[in-house]
Amino acid sequence: MRVNGSDEKLDVEPWVSLADLLRDRLGLTGVKKGCDQGACGACTVLADGMRINSCLALAVQYAGKEITTVEGVTPHPLQEAFVRHDGLQCGYCTPGQICSAIGLLAEQDDPATLDEAAIRERMSGNLCRCGAYNGIVAAITEVAR
Ligand code: FES
Repeated sequence: MRVNGSDEKLDVEPWVSLADLLRDRLGLTGVKKGCDQGACGACTVLADGMRINSCLALAVQYAGKEITTVEGVTPHPLQEAFVRHDGLQCGYCTPGQICSAIGLLAEQDDPATLDEAAIRERMSGNLCRCGAYNGIVAAITEVAR
């Protein structure tokens, strides 16, 4: 697979999750694991530009795909907007929030038309234990415009 622009040739056991491969084999610890069962979104990465929960994905299913983690997009205007709008506190969910927001904006024909309710609904797979949702929505709204 191609990870953050680099070709990676890897032998992987069929039961290894994409999250574990990225974190443990490739050292991409920006991929966070919160629940490890598809409920929190901390492990969100982009696969061929689509956001996925990497804890639920078997790495072997993504052979030949383009995988992008937060390390592959840094620095990004969304990260700067998150800082400006206090869209984080502890920061644990932030890499997943950033990847998910990038995917969200890419899914839209015209991101500028996204209203607050639409952003909240489409980011609902990414939980923030600190409750920084208002800042997260404000940051995404700013970048979408
Ligand atoms: Fe993957 Fe929570 S760690 S969704």
